[in-house]
Amino acid sequence: MKRTVISLITALLLAALFCLPAAAEEPACEHGVKTLITVAEPTCTEPGEELYRCEICGADVHVPLPAPGHDYEETLLEPTCTEPGGLLKVCRRCGDEVNEDLPALGHDYAVAQIDPTCTEPGSIHKVCNRCFDVQDEVLPAPGHDYIKTEQPPTCLLPGRADYRCSRCSDSYGEDLPALGHDYVKTETAPTCLLPGRADYRCSRCEDSYGEDLPALGHEYQKTVVEPTCTAGGWTRYVCVRGDDAYTGDPTSALGHTYGDWTVTIPPTYRAPGEEARFCIRCADAIRRGLAQLTHLAASLCKEGDADMDGTVTAADARLILRIAVGFDDGLDKEQHGKADFDGKEGVTAADARYALRVAVGMDPYAPTLKPGYTFLGYTAKGYALAKKDGLTYVVSSYGYTLIANKTYSLPSTYAPGDLTPECRAAFNELVSAAARDNVNIFVVSGYRSYSLQASLYQRYAAKDGYAAADTYSARPGHSEHQTGLAMDVNSLSSSFADTREGRWLAANAWKYGFIIRYPLSKQSITGYIYEPWHIRYLGKSLAAAVYQSGLCLEEFFGITSVYQ
Ligand code: DAL
Ligand code: ZN
Repeated sequence: MKRTVISLITALLLAALFCLPAAAEEPACEHGVKTLITVAEPTCTEPGEELYRCEICGADVHVPLPAPGHDYEETLLEPTCTEPGGLLKVCRRCGDEVNEDLPALGHDYAVAQIDPTCTEPGSIHKVCNRCFDVQDEVLPAPGHDYIKTEQPPTCLLPGRADYRCSRCSDSYGEDLPALGHDYVKTETAPTCLLPGRADYRCSRCEDSYGEDLPALGHEYQKTVVEPTCTAGGWTRYVCVRGDDAYTGDPTSALGHTYGDWTVTIPPTYRAPGEEARFCIRCADAIRRGLAQLTHLAASLCKEGDADMDGTVTAADARLILRIAVGFDDGLDKEQHGKADFDGKEGVTAADARYALRVAVGMDPYAPTLKPGYTFLGYTAKGYALAKKDGLTYVVSSYGYTLIANKTYSLPSTYAPGDLTPECRAAFNELVSAAARDNVNIFVVSGYRSYSLQASLYQRYAAKDGYAAADTYSARPGHSEHQTGLAMDVNSLSSSFADTREGRWLAANAWKYGFIIRYPLSKQSITGYIYEPWHIRYLGKSLAAAVYQSGLCLEEFFGITSVYQ
């Protein structure tokens, strides 16, 4: 049929062609008769084509065949409230697939709500119209929202506070107690003699009152000044508020109470001496001189003034020596008598020596020292100084007193090893006497060897420097502790002096042969600070004499204590 149509068209086209006047321009071929050559079928998405050959003009004629598009078959997976769904499309012709997501629908709740009141909670009840999911929610009670109305209290009248809930009209109230006055005080303080005043005014309502404050009267603090030997005592009353002071209750001076006469400076042949009676309270003393010793014993009158000119000179010594060796130079009997200086064994060379000593101002009877001692000379107080085995002694009527101080040292080899037996025995006696008075005295440092003193001194010097150490620690070889005659007791503190033990020791040590060796205020003489704890054994009679003299040992003997 198609082919027939095409042939007809082609014939018509040919007729038209032959009927056209020859002079007119040939019209374009309308391909009225054509023959199908090939067909390219379209796909769903790509167009196709038919190819004809024009039977009139012989040209190829292309006839497009449009793409028909996909012909999908759809499969639907419905979404639920909570799960997503999907739409699957497959082309029936070409099998092309398209997948489309369908989101979950979400719940479609029907809601029932009960509102809360101030005190009762409410709720929300939800049911999904599609899937019947149920959700319940509690709406908490908000509590009352009270609005306060207040009538404030005053100092004297009570007040009232009322509360009403803005939501439910619930209400309550409370009485507010009266505040009482808030008084502010203004005071004029009383003094010892004048009354004061306190005024009170209320800071709220101005209410006020006042009161008189009585005068306080004086409040005295007493200071008793004890009488001394020479001055009366009294009591001083001073008001603690500084308003008044007066002195009263006088007591009489005690007067001195003197002890027995004691020789304080023994007389020598070169200087007079002294004896004194000391007041037991204040150390005031009545002193009197003791005549310088003289060899001129009244009964013998053999004083060495051989030439009878009134003084003993070197000429007398020469005369005596001449008599001793057989020349009498025509001297008479009385002169011979004076030439026999010591009154013993006639006139000898010894008498000449005594006279010569007097002539030069020396003790004619310079000590005849015990064997082994060397005479060094005299101290400033006229005592002989003697040396033996490197130790220095002061020779006096009290015996040989070993000296260890800054001037006089001990050999490093001198090592008695402990307190001497005599010193130990005397100390034991002291301890027993103290115990009877309920006082406990004990040794904290007794004998110290040369090397122990050396290490102590070095330790102090390293800590405080040499100059400071020299004021309280002896250099090795200069410590009394090395003699075995000294010891430190109880406490190495200056405050020891003010303890019961310290006071007992200061007042009684001398009775047992000891002295406080480095007394207060004698540092420039002893070379050491006050050591109320350091005692030195001297024997009872010398200790008593030194104690009574009020002097330190250096002063008593007339010696120095200075490093050379
Ligand atoms: N403390 C005294 C002076 C001494 O060291 O011997
Ligand atoms: Zn000591």
